[in-house]
Amino acid sequence: MRHLLSAADLDAAAAVRVLDVAEEMAATQRREIKKLPTLRGRTVVNLFFEDSTRTRTSFEAAAKRLSADVINFSAKGSSVSKGESLKDTALTLEAMGADAVVVRHGASGAPHRLAHAGWTRGAVVNAGDGTHEHPTQALLDAYTMRKHLRGGTGDLAGVRVVVVGDVLHSRVARSNVLLLHTLGAHVTLVAPPTLLPVGVQAWPCAVSHHLDAALADVAPDAVMMLRVQAERMDAAQGGFFPSAREYSRRYGLGRERLAALGERTIVMHPGPMNRGLEISADAADSARSTIVEQVGNGVAVRMAVLYLLLAGELPGGHA
Ligand code: NCD
Repeated sequence: MRHLLSAADLDAAAAVRVLDVAEEMAATQRREIKKLPTLRGRTVVNLFFEDSTRTRTSFEAAAKRLSADVINFSAKGSSVSKGESLKDTALTLEAMGADAVVVRHGASGAPHRLAHAGWTRGAVVNAGDGTHEHPTQALLDAYTMRKHLRGGTGDLAGVRVVVVGDVLHSRVARSNVLLLHTLGAHVTLVAPPTLLPVGVQAWPCAVSHHLDAALADVAPDAVMMLRVQAERMDAAQGGFFPSAREYSRRYGLGRERLAALGERTIVMHPGPMNRGLEISADAADSARSTIVEQVGNGVAVRMAVLYLLLAGELPGGHA
């Protein structure tokens, strides 16, 4: 496959290949000299139209560790603030010879457009589009689960994952459901009815509105908390939940719920966290939290994605 636009682009063989290569990449990152010559002479453009800390720096580190030339473009301070379109921005960057374009955009579908409209010859990697998808986040989450669950054997078949919170605005949730399903894991989404997207019943997962009941029924191996995405909640529309306090009480992971989890259950969050809203400090900083580790794993996973796409070695897939 040429692009990574959706977690659904990856069939099981392709997903496992990315995760296996990511493990090899991670091993090289424990060496004193972390840089590999793999992508020397290739150019990776980071095209970020939305704010980002983790994802942008992670892609930048990944490309640099592979010796690629990296051009960072962020909408702030660029001609986008003068109204330049995605198309013109892409054409400009194309003229600079991008072999890969990593794109984050507020509009769902923007990476598809970039990949298929002929504006770039490079491989397009979706780094988060609107409320749609974020496939490399799902890959780094699966990578983290492989490390911790099933004794590190790497098999996620039958693993049980509960994903909690603002599913409506979360591209992380959708990509995780798709990828985990491909890998044979079972996902249960938990959210108030107001924070679930239309059509969620057709997703390959279970859906619940009751966190305590879901945690008791599923006995999850991993609990993934989602950020409440206030910036995507239209103030005029309002009323997604009665109050922050009520949200925390019903859908937050606090001390009591943490204590009730199985001994080996891991606690995940893609970041950035609203501490005290969807997750308490006790839960975020507990020994079972993989939140900081997820960020570190992101670099190895993105090294694998960039390498496999640019080497034309990603099998299967639909993109
Ligand atoms: C997520 C994103 O941007 O979609 N964060 C991330 O990539 N680490 C989730 C979020 O913003 O809540």
